[in-house]
Amino acid sequence: MSVLNGKKILLGVSGGIAAYKTASLVRLFIKAGAHVQVIMTPASKDFVTPLTLATLSKNPVYSSFYNDDEQEAEWNNHVELGLWADIMLIAPATANTMSKMTNGNCDNLLIATYLSAKCPVYVAPAMDLDMYKHPSTLASFEALQQFGNTIIPAESGELASGLSGEGRMAEPENIIAFLEADLESKLPLKGKKILITAGPTYEAIDPVRFIGNHSSGKMGFDIAECAANLGAYVILVSGPTHCKTTHSNIQRIAVTSAQEMYDVCHEHYSTADVAIAAAAVADYKPKQVASQKIKKAASNFVIELEKTKDILLSLGEIKKNQFLIGFALETENEIENAKLKIQKKNLDLIVLNSLQDEGAGFQKATNKVTFIDKNFNIEPMELKSKEAVAEDILNKIKAYFHE
Ligand code: CTP
Repeated sequence: MSVLNGKKILLGVSGGIAAYKTASLVRLFIKAGAHVQVIMTPASKDFVTPLTLATLSKNPVYSSFYNDDEQEAEWNNHVELGLWADIMLIAPATANTMSKMTNGNCDNLLIATYLSAKCPVYVAPAMDLDMYKHPSTLASFEALQQFGNTIIPAESGELASGLSGEGRMAEPENIIAFLEADLESKLPLKGKKILITAGPTYEAIDPVRFIGNHSSGKMGFDIAECAANLGAYVILVSGPTHCKTTHSNIQRIAVTSAQEMYDVCHEHYSTADVAIAAAAVADYKPKQVASQKIKKAASNFVIELEKTKDILLSLGEIKKNQFLIGFALETENEIENAKLKIQKKNLDLIVLNSLQDEGAGFQKATNKVTFIDKNFNIEPMELKSKEAVAEDILNKIKAYFHE
């Protein structure tokens, strides 16, 4: 999945011949799963029509401060547009538009929006080769970079003037690739490896029967997706579940029993930066596993159980620099029990579910959790979707690495 998926892109088009290529650019953004709104300078409308870009972006295109339809006169709010965007891209950026950007000369909606935008701004210049090298253009590049904007270098080739050289706007595919690479390199968990357990475990009684539980695995899978979206490489060790992963940064390893989950976790833990135990691991397993299907005979049937290994506890015991997160499901003395668990399992953070809270627990789309850290700071959260709880957990991890 592209890192542009779900991103809000504000495309500013200024008046150069390369504006005709923005039709492909918008299509590529949409294909990558981005939302696009387009602002055009009045001059750019000579090179590509607003209707083309409105159709491709599936949104109205703006090019003046207000629409002067007598019946429905309306102000086009550049502040709102600027705040809406996750990324602003000016493509093509003419020498004139770049000069206005550097001087705050906001005589059109594009520049006013640029000045209002708080998001990262990328600039894809396009002009003739001598213009591209002119000291005033170089000064614009320098000023824009000082403002924190990123220049997507022009390419060399045949120019509309008939000359050949540097100045052609980067091809739409290359602009997309540039943005993807740049955004990926800046993801907050880039380079981090996160080990996550999820789902139930099944403990065999005989070849056809097992002891299991109702865990859907959703919480762990949501954490995995969220972590991968933030750039982490995820090892997701999952018991049997119907959940699916979509992100290519997630390596899913399917296991069945607690012992298998334990073995896989220990294989990956020493190289992990974070481990999150979201699995509902069986606490007990049958002491003997029958090799043949057990036939019914006596009216009573007793299975002797023995404890499984506590995976989280074992990870806590050998913890070096890993940030270790556990879950706890409690029905009484929740906070006290959770604090004991933090100490016993050597955790950095525990995510406490109380069964007294409506909407929390197994087979639900929502969860209501309380975070308790190793210093016993307690933070109760609202009832939320499991995706939103996953985001909260990832915010804790981001804070650990960046504070
Ligand atoms: N856990 C584990 N391996 C086990 C059992 C539990 O890794 N064999 C992890 C779970 O994934 C979870 C945490 O430990 O992160 C839950 O702790 P646990 O002590 O099992 O507590 P609860 O099941 O919540 O409650 P109880 O104390 O009643 O067992």
